Amino acid sequence: MNALSPPQLSAPTKQDRRGLLASRLFETRRHSLELAGPLSAEDMTPQAMEDASPTKWHLAHSTWFFEAFVLEKHLDAYQPFDETFGYCFNSYYESLGDRQPRARRGLLTRPSLERVLQYREHVDQALEKLLNENLAPDAEVLRLVEIGVNHEQQHQELLLTDILALFAAHPLRPAYRTHLRGGLPDEPDPLQWIEYPGGVHRVGHQGDGFAFDNERPHHDALIHPFRLADRLVTNGEWLDFIADGGYRAASLWLSDGWTTLNRDDWRAPLYWECRDGQWFAMSLDGLTPVERAAPVVHVSYYEADAFSRWASARLPTEFEWEVAAQDSPPNLSPKSNAISSRALWPSPAKQPSDGRPRQMFGEVWQWTQSAYSPYPGYRPQKGALGEYNGKFMVGQQVLRGASFATPYNHSRSTYRNFFYPHQRWQFMGLRLASEITQ
Ligand SMILES: [Fe+2]
Repeated sequence: MNALSPPQLSAPTKQDRRGLLASRLFETRRHSLELAGPLSAEDMTPQAMEDASPTKWHLAHSTWFFEAFVLEKHLDAYQPFDETFGYCFNSYYESLGDRQPRARRGLLTRPSLERVLQYREHVDQALEKLLNENLAPDAEVLRLVEIGVNHEQQHQELLLTDILALFAAHPLRPAYRTHLRGGLPDEPDPLQWIEYPGGVHRVGHQGDGFAFDNERPHHDALIHPFRLADRLVTNGEWLDFIADGGYRAASLWLSDGWTTLNRDDWRAPLYWECRDGQWFAMSLDGLTPVERAAPVVHVSYYEADAFSRWASARLPTEFEWEVAAQDSPPNLSPKSNAISSRALWPSPAKQPSDGRPRQMFGEVWQWTQSAYSPYPGYRPQKGALGEYNGKFMVGQQVLRGASFATPYNHSRSTYRNFFYPHQRWQFMGLRLASEITQ
């Protein structure tokens, strides 16, 4: 072999896979605690609203998930840490028993934070035993641990969205962390449209890499020619929408959206406040002036849809978005998201457009006009894990991409996030699409 020849790589063995998974598992477990680092025990206990859970609950629930789905079934003689924790920290798994109602998680002043941290240690030690001492863990154990890791990472983003909801409801608008902003452009680049031909495209996840069950099966989708904006909608454009009476023009709104707007008195995105004629927005670094060039965030599907109509455009379908993202590089650098780079808000588009859409990943989740429904041939997993995704496939809309707070390895073109059309506390924004008229 020539000295410069690349080494011949063999397929990873089960032991390699076990080692990689173990290191990712414990890195993920540590990172949840790092995210809780800036918070006091008092910060971690209440919840701001039904949708948002306390930090302490997230730390305990992601631990319960490993206990319920991995350890109790696959580690011989495993002793549950506390028999009452299933009631406290089961989220929505009907087949695993009764649970604390979601809206009342903030009433769980007990167990204490200290006891939840002990719970985490107990489960970590058991997972270490399962993965280290069992020299040939079967493929099913590795599969379940991998789901548990991805599940805990989803809760890491939720931890941040939920602590923001709590701090935005606090009269002093405290910051989760402070971070110097600066160097932002006053205005965004002009929006460019990228054209895509129609045709039959393969969509959905294919291959051996990790994906949630709702991303499969891989299948064909017919797409008509369309245009996609090369960047996200910005705060400046949203300010123009407000100034033009966007929140007062019923003709722009879906009926359910107009009802919600009037019921909840929407006049701007969630967390925006007008003080002495200037708009401010609450984010993880506290209350700061709205920056025109930054992507708008914390808007509902109803708002995104109304804005699109005002802009003489529409939201993309999830498959249009996916086809456009297929040649758009995902954020693979660990430094590309809040969790490791310490970015606390979405950033303006930086690089000039190279003919591919920018900001597909790592800024805000992007609403699509697609209802969250099963792909052709979809079957939920057997057992309690079948409740993970499948039972939510009604009444929600798909969001694509990834936010600045999404763990980087969740940035993939097939990932399907989903929320109800009135919800806006997640890091949600939008990108425009339009028809190509001949
Ligand atoms: Fe969960």
